[in-house]
Amino acid sequence: MKGGGAYINIGSSSSSINSSGSGSGSKMTLGKSVKMYLTIFIATTCIYMVLYQYHMSREPFSPSEVGKHQEKSSSSSYIASYLWSPISLLMANNLTSNNATTTTTTTVATTTPPLYIITPTYRRPEQLAELTRLGYTLKHVANLLWLVIEDANKTNPLVAHTLDRIGVPYEYMVAPMPEKYKQTKKAKPRGVSNRNRGLEYLRQHATEGVLYFADDDNTYDISIFEQMRYISKVGMWPVGLVTKTGVSSPIIRNGKLDGYYDGWIGGRKYPVDMAGFAVNIKFLRQRPHAQMPFKPGYEEDGFLRSLAPLDNNEIDLLADECRDILTWHTQTKKNPPAQALNKTRYSNTNLVHIDKLLVRP
Ligand code: UGA
Ligand code: MN
Repeated sequence: MKGGGAYINIGSSSSSINSSGSGSGSKMTLGKSVKMYLTIFIATTCIYMVLYQYHMSREPFSPSEVGKHQEKSSSSSYIASYLWSPISLLMANNLTSNNATTTTTTTVATTTPPLYIITPTYRRPEQLAELTRLGYTLKHVANLLWLVIEDANKTNPLVAHTLDRIGVPYEYMVAPMPEKYKQTKKAKPRGVSNRNRGLEYLRQHATEGVLYFADDDNTYDISIFEQMRYISKVGMWPVGLVTKTGVSSPIIRNGKLDGYYDGWIGGRKYPVDMAGFAVNIKFLRQRPHAQMPFKPGYEEDGFLRSLAPLDNNEIDLLADECRDILTWHTQTKKNPPAQALNKTRYSNTNLVHIDKLLVRP
């Protein structure tokens, strides 16, 4: 009866308020809803902030030459990208579970096998555009660590800032091309020191999953990443836009690998493109001496040969048994270096800021 009385009291008090104005009841409801929405908004914001702080507290592996997620705190766009992308935030937490103080093996805590994408890069006007395009492709792929390795003596804050803004879990390292190759007038072994640095990193930090060499200027359909995850030893597939044949591909006859189609065979055992194969990490680790040779034109062949023993029937054939093209060896038009900005003429303008974002060779 007590409850009933209370109910009546509320009812009567509200009816007495109602009598003073017909809109007051709905005003009160409106007030309540506003309060409720405000509470939800504040609670959500708090949850975001706590998650963000948690993420920031997880520092990645940091040997001396690794450029860590620099400029995070000073970059408002970086923060914004995470606020708007809670999924990438959670994914990033899963993936950059590296330890700042020790050099223990990285474990990636998810159910699907992790992907380690090694991307060589170097200083040039197109660099940030290439990394941005590739980075946002990789952002569609879960459980992935992006090893961006620059052919340079030190990391570039502009590159670190670009990687931060994209929000894909990454490590940024440097691995300069040896001086003797830099000086040569002949073809250079492009990206080789970078890739070997990536292999070294994986031997120290990865125990399972799959490794893929993704040059910064190529084009990738994201379904190839989901397929390569489950490679048991080595996997291969066609790459478009390679030589006069227009495609470089394993030849499949009666369901079996039966040679290679490529405009330039050059005595190679594996005439494949860098974008056309991936390797299981456990398999790689069983071959401690496997690495890429500084031999222009023979980088892929040399690396794949160094994975011996490897039987042809142990090679997984992806992309619908090599009947589909999911990667392309695209090449970007070279741009001339930007001319210097006239700082007197354009002082106190936005151009001073933009000028700092240009990569000059
Ligand atoms: C082709 C192959 O796809 C490359 O994997 C191979 O390294 C290269 O040939 C070669 O043997 O020279 P290509 O398109 O001709 O590639 O070369 P780039 O795209 O200019 O370079 C390949 C990768 O190495 C890129 O990711 C690029 O950023 C990097 N690179 C290039 C460097 O790290 N340093 C350089 O001086 C040039
Ligand atoms: Mn290229």
